[in-house]
Amino acid sequence: MKELKDKIEEHKRNFDRAIAQVKDENAIQKVRNLYLSRKRGYLRFLFEDLKTLKPEEKPEVGQMVNDFRNYVQDKLQSLKEEFTTPRPVLKKVDLTLPGKKRYWGSPHPILLFQQEIENIFLRMGFSIAEGPEIETDYYNFEALNFPPHHPARDDWDTLYITDDLLLRTHTSPVQIRVMEKKKPPIMIINPGKVYRKEDPDPTHLPMFYQVEGLVVDIGITLAHLKGTLEYFLKTLFHEKIKIRFRPSFFPFTEPSAEVDIGCTVCQGKSKECRVCGGSGWIEILGSGMVDPQVLKNVNIDPEKYSGFAFGLGVERTAMFAFQIPDMRYFYENDLRFIREFSLK
Ligand code: PHE
Repeated sequence: MKELKDKIEEHKRNFDRAIAQVKDENAIQKVRNLYLSRKRGYLRFLFEDLKTLKPEEKPEVGQMVNDFRNYVQDKLQSLKEEFTTPRPVLKKVDLTLPGKKRYWGSPHPILLFQQEIENIFLRMGFSIAEGPEIETDYYNFEALNFPPHHPARDDWDTLYITDDLLLRTHTSPVQIRVMEKKKPPIMIINPGKVYRKEDPDPTHLPMFYQVEGLVVDIGITLAHLKGTLEYFLKTLFHEKIKIRFRPSFFPFTEPSAEVDIGCTVCQGKSKECRVCGGSGWIEILGSGMVDPQVLKNVNIDPEKYSGFAFGLGVERTAMFAFQIPDMRYFYENDLRFIREFSLK
């Protein structure tokens, strides 16, 4: 028994010496064969030797052989990992170089701008309403006074999901959804995405944001509409803006007006301005007094109540606020552009 114990000790010393010299994976494999090979490995012979011992000697020496085998296996395994995991290359650090700035993520410029718009209306006492981007024909058109074959629908082509379901072309359907649920007084805005069949150009996108507004109460007049929008635009542009109301047509308002602001990109001075087309004005908003028929559609008595509504294009307005000559920049995701707007 003593003999066998000494033999194990000796194997262990030799093994330690062998692995101390190992320089590559090949050498590891050789040592592995020497000790663990099923046919001729030293361990196999040690296990054989165990059989020559008396039964009472077996547990102790057997344990030693087992421990030795585990020792060999663990050592070889960790050596192998050392050779196969790439070593980090230590770089010299030049502490005199300027540090690398990491940027924090931040909300998209359009979202930030939308929140600025919301805040002005919230301060005036409006609340925020929500509506779906996939709408039914009824809410997007019919209830807003566009009969099925009305030519006004031609300006509002969009993607149809079924004959009845479509990507909403404006946020105005939310007017209907709100008035169906709530009786006047109503004072809401609804910010959200809308979709149209539009080729992208400096002032058009097939997907963009609008902020819809709706006020319905007793005695609401065009003066309220004009005052509200003027106050809003003057606040948003810090007074530095020219505003004009231009008669227009929408099936769901009567009378209707579009609101233009003086071009802040060329200040009305360039005949070639790509943004205002040389006119000096750009339309950012549709508005009007809620058509009595629309009120009837939601069971609000037009003899008693009146209201005004408006829909503002967020990207267009942002272009003017930030003097950006092309709306597409907002969605190209060029970080150099986006970071100009991040919250510092
Ligand atoms: N929904 C109209 C548009 O997208 C804008 C609008 C809203 C007009 C509310 C009048 C009243 O062009």
